Amino acid sequence: MRQFPEAGLRRLARYLVAALAATALGAQAQEAAKIAETVCAPCHAPDGNSVIPNFPKIAGQQPSYIAKQLADIAAGKRKSDAMGPTLASVKPSDFAALAAWFGAQKQAPGKVEDAAAAKVGERLFKDGNEATGVPACAGCHMVNGEGNDRNPRISGQHQAYAVKEILDFKSGARANDKGRVMRVVAERLTEAEIKAVAEYMAGL
Ligand code: HEC
Ligand code: HEC
Repeated sequence: MRQFPEAGLRRLARYLVAALAATALGAQAQEAAKIAETVCAPCHAPDGNSVIPNFPKIAGQQPSYIAKQLADIAAGKRKSDAMGPTLASVKPSDFAALAAWFGAQKQAPGKVEDAAAAKVGERLFKDGNEATGVPACAGCHMVNGEGNDRNPRISGQHQAYAVKEILDFKSGARANDKGRVMRVVAERLTEAEIKAVAEYMAGL
């Protein structure tokens, strides 16, 4: 009778566990790619680089942020007439895979349309406005605007979308920021500053 050495059995068991996990993950990623193409692409483009100024680019966005927004929008904590009905057809168990899928896409660069405004925006982004108590955006969103696990990427974004979101934080129409962090910042910004900083961020 043949005998498996115990170490060999343990290796086989480890391999089987890893292979099963990889299959499950692969299936989830495939499902995410399918949802992205059929459900999300009409508005965000197949790779997440929306070409419509009011529709955000989500390619290369931080996966943790994408997952949070999907959950917030699905729960009605962030109002979206466009996304709300859409997410009713998507299973919350697919949110993480969708976040990973769009997060792994490469963001297409944005385009500065007003260089003078971008110059003003750069100062605000890097240094804030001490007189009005605006903190530097770079402090949370990082100096190149790529964000991190706790703060979204805001680089390369459409100006129109960025301006609308900051105005919504300012008016309180968007209130899904934990600890009011973005509302506090936005309340201290003037409309001219919001437009200027959006110009600068588009070029990052
Ligand atoms: C009908 C158009 C439409 C469809 C379809 C759509 N979205 Fe959106 N999405 C938007 C708009 C517009 C916004 C910005 C919020 C708003 O103004 O309503 C948005 C916002 C988002 C955000 C937040 C982005 C940010 O920077 O805060 C994420 C993430 C997102 N969508 C992911 C998805 C995913 C994933 C799908 C597919 C399951 C999808 N969207 C389908 C229009 C759409
Ligand atoms: C204390 C940290 C902090 C600072 C400082 C900060 N932000 Fe934010 N910002 C956040 C967080 C966190 C969010 C995401 C909130 C949520 O969960 O919806 C956010 C969201 C945003 C969004 C929406 C992104 C999207 O895709 O919808 C924009 C635009 C933005 N910030 C711009 C700015 C600008 C411009 C400044 C500087 C004037 C700034 N932020 C300063 C933490 C910060």
